[in-house]
Amino acid sequence: MFDALKLQSPDKIIALMKAYREDPRPVKVDLGVGVYKTAEGNTPIMRAVKAAEKQLWDEETTKTYVALLGDAGFHDVMIDLILGPETVPRENVAAVATPGGTGAVHHGLELIRMSNPDVTVWVSDPTWPNHISILDYLGIKWRTYRYFDAEKCEVDFEGMLEDLSQIAEGDAVLLHGCCHNPTGANLNLGQMAEVAEIIRTKGCVPFVDIAYQGFGDGLDTDAIATRHLARHLPEVLIAASCSKNFGLYRERTGILLGITPNEDAANLVRDNMSYLNRQNFSFPPDHGARLVTMILNDPELRADWQAELEEVRVSMLSLRQKLADTLRERLNSDRFDFVAQHRGMFSRLGLTEVEVQQLREKHAIYMVGDSRINIAGLNEENIPILANAIAQVCG
Ligand code: LMR
Repeated sequence: MFDALKLQSPDKIIALMKAYREDPRPVKVDLGVGVYKTAEGNTPIMRAVKAAEKQLWDEETTKTYVALLGDAGFHDVMIDLILGPETVPRENVAAVATPGGTGAVHHGLELIRMSNPDVTVWVSDPTWPNHISILDYLGIKWRTYRYFDAEKCEVDFEGMLEDLSQIAEGDAVLLHGCCHNPTGANLNLGQMAEVAEIIRTKGCVPFVDIAYQGFGDGLDTDAIATRHLARHLPEVLIAASCSKNFGLYRERTGILLGITPNEDAANLVRDNMSYLNRQNFSFPPDHGARLVTMILNDPELRADWQAELEEVRVSMLSLRQKLADTLRERLNSDRFDFVAQHRGMFSRLGLTEVEVQQLREKHAIYMVGDSRINIAGLNEENIPILANAIAQVCG
Protein backbone atom coordinates (compact mmCIF):
# COMPACT_ATOMS: atom_id res chain seq x y z
CA MET A 1 0.00 0.00 0.00
CA PHE A 2 2.65 2.52 0.98
CA ASP A 3 4.43 2.14 -2.34
CA ALA A 4 1.62 4.26 -3.74
CA LEU A 5 2.97 7.22 -1.79
CA LYS A 6 5.03 9.82 -3.54
CA LEU A 7 7.85 11.85 -2.08
CA GLN A 8 6.78 15.32 -0.98
CA SER A 9 8.76 18.33 -2.08
CA PRO A 10 10.81 19.37 0.96
CA ASP A 11 9.97 22.51 2.92
CA LYS A 12 12.72 24.94 1.95
CA ILE A 13 13.26 26.35 5.43
CA ILE A 14 13.41 22.94 7.13
CA ALA A 15 15.69 21.55 4.40
CA LEU A 16 18.03 24.48 4.97
CA MET A 17 18.25 23.69 8.72
CA LYS A 18 19.40 20.17 7.84
CA ALA A 19 21.90 21.30 5.19
CA TYR A 20 23.45 23.74 7.67
CA ARG A 21 23.77 21.10 10.39
CA GLU A 22 25.42 18.70 7.97
CA ASP A 23 27.94 21.23 6.62
CA PRO A 24 31.32 20.14 8.09
CA ARG A 25 33.11 23.49 7.50
CA PRO A 26 34.30 24.94 10.83
CA VAL A 27 33.24 28.52 10.05
CA LYS A 28 29.64 28.73 8.82
CA VAL A 29 26.83 31.23 9.21
CA ASP A 30 23.20 30.24 9.79
CA LEU A 31 20.72 32.90 8.69
CA GLY A 32 17.98 30.41 7.86
CA VAL A 33 15.13 29.33 10.14
CA GLY A 34 13.48 32.03 12.25
CA VAL A 35 14.86 31.23 15.68
CA TYR A 36 16.31 33.87 18.01
CA LYS A 37 19.99 33.49 18.79
CA THR A 38 22.31 35.33 21.15
CA ALA A 39 25.69 36.67 20.00
CA GLU A 40 27.11 33.27 21.06
CA GLY A 41 24.64 31.46 18.81
CA ASN A 42 22.45 30.04 21.61
CA THR A 43 18.67 30.08 21.78
CA PRO A 44 18.16 30.54 25.52
CA ILE A 45 15.09 29.74 27.57
CA MET A 46 13.73 33.12 28.64
CA ARG A 47 14.25 33.95 32.35
CA ALA A 48 10.54 34.26 33.10
CA VAL A 49 9.83 30.97 31.34
CA LYS A 50 12.44 29.17 33.44
CA ALA A 51 11.05 30.72 36.65
CA ALA A 52 7.47 29.79 35.70
CA GLU A 53 8.58 26.23 34.89
CA LYS A 54 10.13 25.83 38.34
CA GLN A 55 6.98 27.16 39.97
CA LEU A 56 4.81 24.90 37.85
CA TRP A 57 6.90 21.87 38.75
CA ASP A 58 6.20 22.60 42.42
CA GLU A 59 2.55 23.46 42.09
CA GLU A 60 1.13 21.25 39.37
CA THR A 61 -0.69 18.28 40.86
CA THR A 62 -2.20 16.60 37.81
CA LYS A 63 -1.67 16.05 34.13
CA THR A 64 -5.27 15.22 33.40
CA TYR A 65 -6.95 16.72 30.35
CA VAL A 66 -7.79 20.41 30.40
CA ALA A 67 -10.44 21.24 27.76
CA LEU A 68 -10.76 20.79 24.03
CA LEU A 69 -10.40 24.52 23.53
CA GLY A 70 -7.44 24.68 25.94
CA ASP A 71 -7.37 26.60 29.19
CA ALA A 72 -9.71 29.60 29.44
CA GLY A 73 -7.03 31.47 31.44
CA PHE A 74 -4.69 31.19 28.43
CA HIS A 75 -7.40 32.55 26.13
CA ASP A 76 -7.90 35.56 28.40
CA VAL A 77 -4.25 36.55 28.68
CA MET A 78 -3.65 36.12 24.96
CA ILE A 79 -6.74 38.10 23.99
CA ASP A 80 -5.50 40.86 26.26
CA LEU A 81 -1.94 40.69 24.86
CA ILE A 82 -3.04 40.78 21.23
CA LEU A 83 -6.13 42.95 21.33
CA GLY A 84 -5.46 45.03 24.42
CA PRO A 85 -8.31 46.13 26.69
CA GLU A 86 -11.62 47.27 25.20
CA THR A 87 -10.87 46.75 21.50
CA VAL A 88 -13.81 44.34 21.22
CA PRO A 89 -16.26 42.99 23.81
CA ARG A 90 -14.76 39.80 25.29
CA GLU A 91 -17.98 37.84 24.70
CA ASN A 92 -17.64 38.42 20.94
CA VAL A 93 -14.27 36.65 20.79
CA ALA A 94 -13.93 32.89 20.32
CA ALA A 95 -10.54 31.37 21.12
CA VAL A 96 -8.85 27.99 20.82
CA ALA A 97 -5.38 26.92 21.91
CA THR A 98 -3.44 25.27 19.09
CA PRO A 99 -0.10 23.50 18.62
CA GLY A 100 1.96 26.59 17.74
CA GLY A 101 1.09 29.39 15.37
CA THR A 102 1.14 26.91 12.49
CA GLY A 103 -1.67 24.95 14.16
CA ALA A 104 -3.64 28.19 14.39
CA VAL A 105 -3.03 29.00 10.72
CA HIS A 106 -4.14 25.50 9.76
CA HIS A 107 -7.32 25.67 11.86
CA GLY A 108 -8.09 29.19 10.68
CA LEU A 109 -7.92 28.11 7.06
CA GLU A 110 -10.05 25.03 7.76
CA LEU A 111 -12.62 27.21 9.47
CA ILE A 112 -12.67 29.53 6.46
CA ARG A 113 -13.15 26.57 4.12
CA MET A 114 -15.93 25.13 6.31
CA SER A 115 -17.69 28.52 6.19
CA ASN A 116 -17.24 28.96 2.43
CA PRO A 117 -16.04 25.88 0.48
CA ASP A 118 -15.68 28.04 -2.61
CA VAL A 119 -13.47 30.63 -0.92
CA THR A 120 -10.36 32.15 -2.49
CA VAL A 121 -7.71 33.08 0.07
CA TRP A 122 -5.54 36.01 -0.98
CA VAL A 123 -1.94 35.92 0.22
CA SER A 124 0.87 38.46 -0.07
CA ASP A 125 3.48 37.90 -2.75
CA PRO A 126 5.71 36.78 -1.15
CA THR A 127 4.47 35.17 2.05
CA TRP A 128 5.70 32.53 4.50
CA PRO A 129 6.01 29.46 2.21
CA ASN A 130 4.10 27.27 4.63
CA HIS A 131 0.97 29.43 4.16
CA ILE A 132 0.83 28.28 0.57
CA SER A 133 1.75 24.72 1.44
CA ILE A 134 -1.11 24.47 3.94
CA LEU A 135 -3.56 26.06 1.49
CA ASP A 136 -2.58 23.47 -1.13
CA TYR A 137 -2.77 20.67 1.43
CA LEU A 138 -6.29 21.74 2.35
CA GLY A 139 -7.23 22.13 -1.33
CA ILE A 140 -8.18 25.77 -0.88
CA LYS A 141 -8.00 28.11 -3.87
CA TRP A 142 -5.56 30.95 -3.39
CA ARG A 143 -4.31 33.96 -5.25
CA THR A 144 -1.56 36.43 -4.52
CA TYR A 145 -1.71 40.18 -4.14
CA ARG A 146 1.37 42.27 -4.90
CA TYR A 147 3.12 43.26 -1.69
CA PHE A 148 6.84 43.79 -2.13
CA ASP A 149 8.66 45.98 -4.61
CA ALA A 150 11.79 43.89 -5.17
CA GLU A 151 13.65 46.81 -6.76
CA LYS A 152 13.09 49.26 -3.94
CA CYS A 153 12.85 46.58 -1.22
CA GLU A 154 9.75 48.19 0.25
CA VAL A 155 6.00 47.62 0.26
CA ASP A 156 4.36 48.01 -3.15
CA PHE A 157 1.22 49.56 -1.72
CA GLU A 158 -0.25 50.72 -5.02
CA GLY A 159 0.14 47.22 -6.46
CA MET A 160 -1.41 45.76 -3.32
CA LEU A 161 -4.48 48.02 -3.55
CA GLU A 162 -4.90 47.31 -7.24
CA ASP A 163 -4.84 43.54 -6.68
CA LEU A 164 -7.10 43.69 -3.64
CA SER A 165 -9.68 45.54 -5.73
CA GLN A 166 -10.35 42.12 -7.32
CA ILE A 167 -11.31 40.29 -4.13
CA ALA A 168 -14.84 38.94 -4.17
CA GLU A 169 -17.50 38.74 -1.46
CA GLY A 170 -16.79 35.78 0.84
CA ASP A 171 -13.06 35.68 0.09
CA ALA A 172 -10.43 35.83 2.83
CA VAL A 173 -7.31 37.98 2.89
CA LEU A 174 -4.28 36.68 4.75
CA LEU A 175 -2.30 39.55 6.31
CA HIS A 176 0.83 39.62 8.44
CA GLY A 177 0.01 41.52 11.66
CA CYS A 178 3.59 42.84 11.96
CA CYS A 179 7.15 41.87 11.04
CA HIS A 180 6.28 40.55 7.58
CA ASN A 181 7.83 37.17 6.87
CA PRO A 182 9.90 36.96 4.62
CA THR A 183 10.43 40.59 3.62
CA GLY A 184 10.58 42.63 6.87
CA ALA A 185 8.68 45.41 5.03
CA ASN A 186 5.47 46.37 6.81
CA LEU A 187 2.30 48.36 6.20
CA ASN A 188 1.90 51.47 8.33
CA LEU A 189 -1.35 51.99 10.22
CA GLY A 190 -2.82 54.29 7.57
CA GLN A 191 -2.16 51.70 4.89
CA MET A 192 -3.68 48.91 7.00
CA ALA A 193 -6.74 51.12 7.51
CA GLU A 194 -7.12 51.45 3.73
CA VAL A 195 -6.81 47.68 3.33
CA ALA A 196 -9.39 47.20 6.12
CA GLU A 197 -11.81 49.47 4.27
CA ILE A 198 -11.50 47.46 1.03
CA ILE A 199 -12.04 44.22 2.94
CA ARG A 200 -15.06 45.69 4.71
CA THR A 201 -16.76 47.08 1.60
CA LYS A 202 -16.15 43.85 -0.35
CA GLY A 203 -17.62 41.68 2.43
CA CYS A 204 -14.44 39.64 2.95
CA VAL A 205 -12.72 38.37 6.07
CA PRO A 206 -9.16 39.25 7.08
CA PHE A 207 -7.04 36.46 8.52
CA VAL A 208 -4.15 37.98 10.47
CA ASP A 209 -1.06 35.91 11.15
CA ILE A 210 0.80 37.55 14.03
CA ALA A 211 3.79 35.40 14.89
CA TYR A 212 6.33 38.06 15.91
CA GLN A 213 4.51 40.44 18.27
CA GLY A 214 7.20 42.33 20.23
CA PHE A 215 9.96 41.79 17.65
CA GLY A 216 9.28 44.92 15.58
CA ASP A 217 8.43 48.21 17.29
CA GLY A 218 7.25 46.90 20.68
CA LEU A 219 4.44 44.73 22.04
CA ASP A 220 1.59 47.24 21.69
CA THR A 221 2.81 48.99 18.54
CA ASP A 222 3.19 45.63 16.77
CA ALA A 223 -0.46 44.85 17.53
CA ILE A 224 -1.90 48.20 16.42
CA ALA A 225 -2.77 47.07 12.88
CA THR A 226 -4.46 43.90 14.16
CA ARG A 227 -6.42 45.92 16.73
CA HIS A 228 -7.54 48.31 14.00
CA LEU A 229 -8.97 45.43 11.97
CA ALA A 230 -10.64 43.95 15.06
CA ARG A 231 -12.23 47.30 15.91
CA HIS A 232 -13.51 48.13 12.43
CA LEU A 233 -14.55 44.84 10.89
CA PRO A 234 -17.37 42.54 11.96
CA GLU A 235 -15.38 39.32 11.52
CA VAL A 236 -11.63 38.80 11.87
CA LEU A 237 -9.54 35.68 12.36
CA ILE A 238 -6.19 35.93 14.13
CA ALA A 239 -3.50 33.25 14.39
CA ALA A 240 -0.88 34.02 17.02
CA SER A 241 2.27 32.24 18.11
CA CYS A 242 4.21 32.18 21.38
CA SER A 243 7.17 30.44 19.72
CA LYS A 244 9.17 33.59 19.16
CA ASN A 245 8.14 36.19 21.76
CA PHE A 246 8.18 33.64 24.60
CA GLY A 247 10.91 31.49 22.99
CA LEU A 248 8.64 28.45 23.38
CA TYR A 249 9.37 26.97 19.95
CA ARG A 250 9.28 23.27 20.80
CA GLU A 251 6.38 23.55 23.26
CA ARG A 252 4.04 24.36 20.34
CA THR A 253 2.06 27.19 21.89
CA GLY A 254 -0.35 29.17 19.76
CA ILE A 255 -3.90 30.43 19.61
CA LEU A 256 -6.59 31.10 17.05
CA LEU A 257 -9.00 33.96 17.76
CA GLY A 258 -12.27 34.59 15.96
CA ILE A 259 -13.72 38.09 16.36
CA THR A 260 -17.42 38.00 15.66
CA PRO A 261 -20.26 40.58 15.74
CA ASN A 262 -22.07 39.10 18.76
CA GLU A 263 -22.06 36.44 21.47
CA ASP A 264 -24.15 33.91 19.50
CA ALA A 265 -21.78 34.11 16.55
CA ALA A 266 -18.81 33.67 18.91
CA ASN A 267 -20.44 30.56 20.40
CA LEU A 268 -20.89 29.07 16.94
CA VAL A 269 -17.27 29.75 15.99
CA ARG A 270 -16.09 28.37 19.34
CA ASP A 271 -18.07 25.18 18.81
CA ASN A 272 -16.41 24.67 15.43
CA MET A 273 -12.95 25.43 16.83
CA SER A 274 -13.49 22.79 19.47
CA TYR A 275 -14.59 20.34 16.75
CA LEU A 276 -11.43 21.06 14.74
CA ASN A 277 -9.20 20.31 17.73
CA ARG A 278 -11.07 17.08 18.45
CA GLN A 279 -10.87 15.86 14.86
CA ASN A 280 -7.22 16.74 14.36
CA PHE A 281 -5.53 15.83 17.64
CA SER A 282 -8.10 16.20 20.44
CA PHE A 283 -6.66 18.26 23.33
CA PRO A 284 -4.11 20.98 22.55
CA PRO A 285 -0.69 21.00 24.28
CA ASP A 286 -0.93 22.68 27.69
CA HIS A 287 2.59 23.14 29.07
CA GLY A 288 3.65 26.20 27.05
CA ALA A 289 0.19 27.76 27.30
CA ARG A 290 0.26 27.40 31.10
CA LEU A 291 3.67 29.05 31.34
CA VAL A 292 2.45 31.98 29.22
CA THR A 293 -0.62 32.32 31.44
CA MET A 294 1.49 32.29 34.61
CA ILE A 295 3.91 34.88 33.22
CA LEU A 296 1.24 37.26 31.97
CA ASN A 297 -0.75 37.03 35.22
CA ASP A 298 2.21 37.61 37.55
CA PRO A 299 3.39 41.25 37.57
CA GLU A 300 7.01 40.34 38.38
CA LEU A 301 7.34 37.57 35.82
CA ARG A 302 5.55 39.70 33.25
CA ALA A 303 7.87 42.66 33.80
CA ASP A 304 10.92 40.43 33.50
CA TRP A 305 9.59 38.80 30.33
CA GLN A 306 8.87 42.18 28.78
CA ALA A 307 12.33 43.44 29.69
CA GLU A 308 14.01 40.42 28.09
CA LEU A 309 11.81 40.65 24.99
CA GLU A 310 12.76 44.30 24.69
CA GLU A 311 16.46 43.36 24.91
CA VAL A 312 15.90 40.90 22.06
CA ARG A 313 14.07 43.50 19.96
CA VAL A 314 16.64 46.23 20.51
CA SER A 315 19.53 43.86 19.79
CA MET A 316 17.94 42.96 16.43
CA LEU A 317 17.56 46.66 15.60
CA SER A 318 21.21 47.25 16.31
CA LEU A 319 22.21 44.22 14.20
CA ARG A 320 20.14 45.64 11.35
CA GLN A 321 21.95 48.95 11.62
CA LYS A 322 25.37 47.28 11.80
CA LEU A 323 24.70 45.15 8.74
CA ALA A 324 23.40 48.12 6.74
CA ASP A 325 26.44 50.23 7.76
CA THR A 326 28.95 47.48 6.99
CA LEU A 327 27.39 46.76 3.60
CA ARG A 328 27.33 50.46 2.77
CA GLU A 329 31.02 50.67 3.61
CA ARG A 330 32.08 47.44 1.80
CA LEU A 331 30.04 48.08 -1.34
CA ASN A 332 30.35 51.83 -1.30
CA SER A 333 26.63 51.92 -2.05
CA ASP A 334 23.31 52.54 -0.30
CA ARG A 335 21.72 49.49 -1.91
CA PHE A 336 21.19 47.70 1.39
CA ASP A 337 20.24 50.68 3.57
CA PHE A 338 16.68 49.34 3.70
CA VAL A 339 17.81 46.59 6.09
CA ALA A 340 17.95 49.18 8.88
CA GLN A 341 14.39 50.36 8.11
CA HIS A 342 12.80 46.92 8.01
CA ARG A 343 11.32 45.42 11.16
CA GLY A 344 11.10 41.99 12.72
CA MET A 345 13.17 38.89 12.42
CA PHE A 346 13.68 38.89 8.66
CA SER A 347 14.78 40.95 5.70
CA ARG A 348 14.87 39.92 2.10
CA LEU A 349 18.15 41.12 0.66
CA GLY A 350 17.16 41.03 -3.00
CA LEU A 351 19.97 38.68 -4.12
CA THR A 352 19.48 36.26 -7.00
CA GLU A 353 19.15 32.51 -6.40
CA VAL A 354 22.57 32.04 -7.95
CA GLU A 355 24.10 34.57 -5.57
CA VAL A 356 22.42 32.86 -2.62
CA GLN A 357 23.83 29.55 -3.80
CA GLN A 358 27.31 31.01 -4.17
CA LEU A 359 27.10 32.37 -0.63
CA ARG A 360 26.30 28.87 0.57
CA GLU A 361 28.82 26.97 -1.54
CA LYS A 362 31.79 29.33 -1.39
CA HIS A 363 31.27 31.05 1.95
CA ALA A 364 29.20 28.61 4.05
CA ILE A 365 26.53 31.29 4.56
CA TYR A 366 23.02 29.86 4.75
CA MET A 367 19.94 31.93 3.90
CA VAL A 368 16.61 30.98 2.32
CA GLY A 369 16.72 30.80 -1.51
CA ASP A 370 14.78 34.04 -1.92
CA SER A 371 17.62 35.77 0.04
CA ARG A 372 15.63 36.05 3.30
CA ILE A 373 17.98 36.37 6.25
CA ASN A 374 17.25 35.81 9.92
CA ILE A 375 18.53 39.01 11.51
CA ALA A 376 19.01 37.25 14.87
CA GLY A 377 21.54 34.93 13.21
CA LEU A 378 23.88 37.92 12.78
CA ASN A 379 26.55 38.94 15.29
CA GLU A 380 29.68 41.12 15.50
CA GLU A 381 31.79 38.30 14.12
CA ASN A 382 29.72 37.19 11.15
CA ILE A 383 28.46 40.59 9.92
CA PRO A 384 31.85 41.38 8.29
CA ILE A 385 32.01 37.81 6.91
CA LEU A 386 28.55 38.24 5.34
CA ALA A 387 29.27 41.74 4.04
CA ASN A 388 32.56 40.66 2.44
CA ALA A 389 30.91 37.63 0.86
CA ILE A 390 28.03 39.73 -0.51
CA ALA A 391 30.56 42.22 -1.91
CA GLN A 392 32.29 39.30 -3.66
CA VAL A 393 29.23 37.61 -5.14
CA CYS A 394 27.58 40.89 -6.16
CA GLY A 395 30.79 42.56 -7.29
C1 LMR B 1 10.45 30.73 9.78
O1 LMR B 1 9.79 31.33 8.92
O2 LMR B 1 11.67 30.49 9.65
C2 LMR B 1 9.78 30.29 11.04
O3 LMR B 1 8.45 30.70 11.04
C3 LMR B 1 9.95 28.85 11.31
C4 LMR B 1 9.16 27.98 10.39
O4 LMR B 1 8.46 27.11 10.91
O5 LMR B 1 9.23 28.13 9.17
